[in-house]
Amino acid sequence: MGRTRPFPGAALLLLLAWASPGAAGGSAETLSPERSLVWGPGLHPDIVLPVRYFYIQAVTAGGRNFTHSPGKRAFRVVIKSLAKEFVRIHVPDPLDRNDGSFLVRYRMYGTGNQGLMIEVLHGDKHVAQSPYTLKGPVYHEYCDCPEEDPQAWQETLSCPDTEAQISKDFDPFPSIDLTRMLDEVPKRFADRGAIVHYTVLNNNIYRHSMGRYTDFKMFSDEMLQSLARKVRLPDFEFYINVGDWPVEHRKANDTPGPLPMISWCGSADSRDIILPTYDITHSTLETLRGVTNDLLSIQGHTGPSWSNKTEQGFFRGRDSREERLQLVHMSRKHPELLDAGITGYFFFRELEEELGKASLIGFFDFFNYKYQVNVDGTVAAYRFPYLMLGDSLVLKQDSPYYEHFYSGLKPWKHYVPFKRNLGDLLEKIQWAKDHDEEAKQIAKEGQTLARELLQPHRLYCYYYKLFENYAKRQTSKPEIRENMEHVPQPDDSSAMCQCHRKKRSKEEL
Ligand SMILES: *[C@@H]1O[C@H](CO)[C@@H](O)[C@H](O)[C@H]1NC(C)=O
Ligand SMILES: *[C@@H]1O[C@H](CO)[C@@H](O)[C@H](O)[C@H]1NC(C)=O
Repeated sequence: MGRTRPFPGAALLLLLAWASPGAAGGSAETLSPERSLVWGPGLHPDIVLPVRYFYIQAVTAGGRNFTHSPGKRAFRVVIKSLAKEFVRIHVPDPLDRNDGSFLVRYRMYGTGNQGLMIEVLHGDKHVAQSPYTLKGPVYHEYCDCPEEDPQAWQETLSCPDTEAQISKDFDPFPSIDLTRMLDEVPKRFADRGAIVHYTVLNNNIYRHSMGRYTDFKMFSDEMLQSLARKVRLPDFEFYINVGDWPVEHRKANDTPGPLPMISWCGSADSRDIILPTYDITHSTLETLRGVTNDLLSIQGHTGPSWSNKTEQGFFRGRDSREERLQLVHMSRKHPELLDAGITGYFFFRELEEELGKASLIGFFDFFNYKYQVNVDGTVAAYRFPYLMLGDSLVLKQDSPYYEHFYSGLKPWKHYVPFKRNLGDLLEKIQWAKDHDEEAKQIAKEGQTLARELLQPHRLYCYYYKLFENYAKRQTSKPEIRENMEHVPQPDDSSAMCQCHRKKRSKEEL
């Protein structure tokens, strides 16, 4: 596969170049394919992800970054297998992030044994160092081929050395006594019906569900499986709470002390160790496979540019918390500041007639509005990460609940806080209207940080780091308990691949 391509448009292009020197790269404002930038984990063969991704930044011939879209179709990406082998790869058009940058995603349905070639094109010209060669094997998501050296794997992904939230969560647990957990967890938490007991041994997953409300174990299963296909997991045994609310309310210095329960949402008055929510985890695994809201696609659907967004606070959601209903009242009194509606009633059905039911709107349409109002649901509102990735200003209700990445965010720098009782919400929206430049700046800073923290590969880093921290604190050996069942990796045609990584032999274990 050479770099020569048929070039039927050459004569025409030459003519155009004569007519407008800018088109040939002379003008400082023209997009320069050579000076534009291409980077990201999707260019690295060893960063195996369900959907691989990388970024393009449009740069002018004068060397300045574009800060607005150079046109939806400015870039085209072609991905091919390096050898004659056929590899099915889904490559949607690059997502225009409306700020001069693009996000490219691709999902592989087979392994590229020889490797891949990625061409990034602007018209007929290669962009930056295109074509990029990814030396094979380039494994696909379902290939069971873990890297045996977790340190090397983390370095490949450029995982941060520490995560503040993980350090904080493990602070009350210098050691983890599995015998005590086996004894106490069933007594204290089993009646909730939402606890799942896992053991990971020799990179195999075993589990036992303790109750009726454990269907969400499919999310913990799929993440553990996905991780185990990529990196060798430590041996560890833990309990995950797949219900909404965190469960461990003992204080660090209580006697007896708290247990290291793992949950998806944390709160100021509980000690649960928190993972990224099942929502962002599942959508990351299923990106380009049936989910539409995920951490990547949202970035290409953030509505009109800032100056063209409607200057109102916006809220749509279910009736899972009283303040949400209050929003509707406020919205009726001050429609110029707030557009709020309840889209489904479950907890406060008797209020439906009075407050009315708003029609459902697609999540991407939220970004027609300049100010996004984030109010807790049952626990933290799991839409918060998606709102932060948009380019609207997020106003966030003060809350005792948090997700794994909140500790990196600062009020007034990345979002605008308002009181839990909504007492100052309208004031804050008015402030944003009166201080457009500052509001825009906060929206931008929030988006920039969310883009960094919520990259799919960072979720994998987070999971691994958390499990590693847990495992090294165990004071006895994890075991496959009698009531546990094996959770096997898929072995259908989707999983077919040849793994060339060295599997550790029995003697080395
Ligand atoms: C241009 O964009 C790239 C990629 O986002 C960034 O790393 C770089 O700092 C930007 N340059 C300037 C001068 O802002
Ligand atoms: C705002 O919308 C108008 C009308 O659709 C459009 O012409 C204009 O370019 C938009 N402004 C920006 C900054 O996107």
